[in-house]
Amino acid sequence: MEKKELLYEGKGKRLYKTEDDEQLISVFKDDLTAFNAQKIGNEEGKGALNCKISTQLFHLLESYGIKTHLIKTIDDSSQLVKRVDIIPLEVVVRNIATGSLTKRLGIKEGTKLPFSLVEFYYKDDSLNDPLVNDEHCLMMGLVKSESDLEELKRLGREINSILKKFFEQRGLNLVDFKIEFGVDKEGNILLSDEISPDSCRFWDIKTNEKLDKDRFRQGLGGVKMAYEEVLKRILEK
Ligand code: TMP
Repeated sequence: MEKKELLYEGKGKRLYKTEDDEQLISVFKDDLTAFNAQKIGNEEGKGALNCKISTQLFHLLESYGIKTHLIKTIDDSSQLVKRVDIIPLEVVVRNIATGSLTKRLGIKEGTKLPFSLVEFYYKDDSLNDPLVNDEHCLMMGLVKSESDLEELKRLGREINSILKKFFEQRGLNLVDFKIEFGVDKEGNILLSDEISPDSCRFWDIKTNEKLDKDRFRQGLGGVKMAYEEVLKRILEK
């Protein structure tokens, strides 16, 4: 399958059309951004690492019956994916308090949450992706119905329980993550976008070392080393 014209360029990926209207090529970029692109960087090989990590995790989730947009990988940093209409919500699932949750609510960093918390953020860079509640989502027509919202929460929790266990077995705490969903031609809700250290927080269970994009956000260095470590753990066993 050949790349045709560029359809969309995001912060982490470029989406190209193909000769098939229903299939797109997603190319993972080496660029790193944080704080709504106020901080910008580049790490050679990061795109390929995220592509490999995301492919592995999407295959794992597919094996548990989660439907995704992934068709196949094309090369080290690109995937062939189904064309979907992206639901303009970032679905964030949290197991341990950190990041914006600690800032917003004053919960102490590192607190284990009593249950997995699902949050929705409205995908709009000009508004800084604000936190929204169910009624905001329905009022703004970001989802079609209350049952779609419930389905997003159910999928978020199910994906969390699969990934949390998988990473625990590999010595990593899945602290929190962000996922996105799209709707295909038949109306199915498919897991889309990516799941990678750009969109998740991983802390080493023994040392609490951060192995994700917080290394870039917080200027800790060793970004590529961390992403390589996550891929190595995923491929273990
Ligand atoms: P937060 O604590 O900054 O709200 O982030 C929660 C999770 O979502 C964390 O795993 C990082 C991820 N995330 C993204 O993937 N993209 C974003 O734009 C933001 C703000 C967070």
